Amino acid sequence: MNTPRIDLSPLRSQFPALQETDANGRPYVYFDGPGGTQVPQRVMDAMADYFVRANANHGGHFITSRRNDDTIDQTRTAMADFFKAPSAAEIVFGANMTSLTFSFSRAIGRMLQPGDEIIVTHLDHDGNIAPWVALKEKGIIIKWADFRREDCRLDLDHLASLLNAKTKLVAVGYASNAVGTINPIAEIAEMVHAAGAWLWVDAVHYAPHGPIDVQHTGCDFMVCSAYKFFGPHVGALWGRLDLLEQLSAYKVRPSKTTPPQKFETGTLNHEGLAGVSGAIDYLAEVGRHYGNPLPSIDVDARNEYSGRRRELKQAMDAIMAYERPLFVNLLTAIQKIPGTRIYGITDPMEFDHRCPTLAFTREGFAPSQIAEHLGNQGIFVWHGNYYALAVTERLGVEDSGGMVRVGLAHYNTEEEIDRLIAALNNM
Ligand SMILES: Cc1ncc(COP(=O)(O)O)c(C=O)c1O
Repeated sequence: MNTPRIDLSPLRSQFPALQETDANGRPYVYFDGPGGTQVPQRVMDAMADYFVRANANHGGHFITSRRNDDTIDQTRTAMADFFKAPSAAEIVFGANMTSLTFSFSRAIGRMLQPGDEIIVTHLDHDGNIAPWVALKEKGIIIKWADFRREDCRLDLDHLASLLNAKTKLVAVGYASNAVGTINPIAEIAEMVHAAGAWLWVDAVHYAPHGPIDVQHTGCDFMVCSAYKFFGPHVGALWGRLDLLEQLSAYKVRPSKTTPPQKFETGTLNHEGLAGVSGAIDYLAEVGRHYGNPLPSIDVDARNEYSGRRRELKQAMDAIMAYERPLFVNLLTAIQKIPGTRIYGITDPMEFDHRCPTLAFTREGFAPSQIAEHLGNQGIFVWHGNYYALAVTERLGVEDSGGMVRVGLAHYNTEEEIDRLIAALNNM
């Protein structure tokens, strides 16, 4: 399959890291996006500009503090657009997804009684498991939903069988950072709500690959991390306002008592927030230049896709359309390498249910050996479990070193895939 003829070079040139070369002048190949993507220049500029013009704490009666207040407000609005949230008051910033999830599991735990149940899944990153399992110390019962070994899709029948009147929360990933599966969040939300529970969604892996719409998916909380979508190391959470209001945050006394600030412990990473705005501006620009006009069916009566929301949707649709055939080519080429085993969905008809993230093992080679061989040639991939320990354990590969993970982002190219395949054939 051919990648659509989108000229990515104007985009690649915005990422200084993509211009880096090894000692032989060969450009580095970044297939490590699921562990953190590269950032465009404007993200760095926004962060540097913060330090020059706005480096002060918030809420002061002087110009640098006011500028910082503006940065925080603007970034909250930008993240609300990214999540397609009803309001910016529903956006909570934190250090990263894991810290936000621990902080919310503690706050949610305050409302639960011993014997209440929480469901986690074997398909998740531990950042969406350990914070919930920690509530066992309060007498909360943790149940585990399984996935199908053959294609790494969540077993929805199994999930349904675990739901009951005692279930208070279900924690699922939007997409698996190990095997790429995209879960049907809207369908899961219906099941979870029918049982009277809340749905917590980890969108960290999905965020750089497709449009997000918390209202359409119908979940109650969603959390992601800007360093996975071309920004700096900042975590961002969306939560339903009534729930954010109900929850009792762990906070210091002088800080605000209303959401979202009541959940933002200590001083935020202000320079990071400036960078998050830069990343969202970048994506909006991708939408303006590369996006197809949205079909009129997407432009609903409330005009939810106006302005930047429309640009972000167009950007993420364009990114999906670019990554899909690139991934097909990667998969087809890797499948031809003798002794490789691919984990996850491999049927192209089912690719609506996966991200362009490929996990594989190869007979006769440990995953770390493959990653090191590639790394020595300037091709960056991850090996091991990438903290998706429940996945590697379930697949029976944890004790043999996990899997090699090749993660495509929209800045990757066919030529880079060719280099990867040549290097793998040359082991
Ligand atoms: C799917 C998924 N969830 C959660 C995390 C943890 O994110 P953070 O580093 O922001 O805590 C990651 C990081 O790799 C991830 O891929």
